[in-house]
Amino acid sequence: MKEQLENIYKNAMAEIEKISNINEVEEIRANYLSRKGQLNEIKKGLKDLSDEDKKIVGSLANKISQDLEIALKEKFDIFYKKELDEKLANERIDVTLSGKFVPQGKIHPLTSTIEEITSIFQTLGFSVTPTEFSPEVETEYYNFDMLNVPKDHPARDVQDTFYTTVAPNVVLRSQTSDAQIRSMEGKNPPIRIIAPGRVYRNENINARKNNFFHQIEGLYVDKGITFGDLKGVLNEFIRIYFGESRPTRFRNSFFPFTEPSAEVDVQCIMCHGKGCRTCSGTGWLEVLGAGMVDPNVLKGVGIDPDVYSGFAFGMGVERLAMLKYAIDDIRLFFNNDERFLKQF
Ligand code: PHE
Repeated sequence: MKEQLENIYKNAMAEIEKISNINEVEEIRANYLSRKGQLNEIKKGLKDLSDEDKKIVGSLANKISQDLEIALKEKFDIFYKKELDEKLANERIDVTLSGKFVPQGKIHPLTSTIEEITSIFQTLGFSVTPTEFSPEVETEYYNFDMLNVPKDHPARDVQDTFYTTVAPNVVLRSQTSDAQIRSMEGKNPPIRIIAPGRVYRNENINARKNNFFHQIEGLYVDKGITFGDLKGVLNEFIRIYFGESRPTRFRNSFFPFTEPSAEVDVQCIMCHGKGCRTCSGTGWLEVLGAGMVDPNVLKGVGIDPDVYSGFAFGMGVERLAMLKYAIDDIRLFFNNDERFLKQF
């Protein structure tokens, strides 16, 4: 048996010596060392030997299994590393190779301007109304009547407002001020909201005017709100939006739903007030309409004007974006020219 064992050892070692890949390591291990392997077969015959021989042959068999195990492990390590290196070399990724170009979409400058303005007002404590507070297809009732706009006001004229044929008195809303009414109806002050949205007007289209554009409406109603609050909020907004405090000018104006009313100008960003083409030589650019909510409007929605007061404003998003990015033609926002859109 001893001889048999030594033969097995010699043969196994010779085979191990010739190993050329990992699979062969496993084959040899199965052939010699597994439960049905050659060594185990021998160990099964141990029971027929004398105690003395059992010890000698048994320990020799164990020694041989250990040596073979060690020799196989050595080969395994060598070929494992070799195969891994080969695999790594073959599947190598060249990180310096330029990738495939995947064109990336961008946020439209009007969308990002609306988001920016909205978040500024949110930090000032205003919350955004749900979109159903100011639908783009609106009744005259919310677009005009409740806003104290007289029946014969020129803004209602078909020359300014798009009337639909959906039903009588249904228009494409001409202003986001409809959101004021829905924010106040059936609610108690304090009310502090902003409402962004698209509005439509039957304008002749040119570099400064389009027949649809975007507004952001604001409204703050509470006890003791004054024109000073309006100025404070708008000046703070302009400071944050333009990144620095800019001179503003509140010009006396008229809106049926505010009293007193003002139009707010910001010093021209192109010429810093000297007067240029963009500001038509005035040094100022109009950015929004505003005023104290007319008592008639408050009464209409059931808020007592003797107890509460408020201010409202409506700003033109295109105008504010044009000022910030020095865009000189409103039509650029809408004709989807990539050369323009890519710049934002
Ligand atoms: N709705 C007015 C417009 O479109 C702007 C405005 C809003 C004025 C709120 C006063 C208060 O011109």
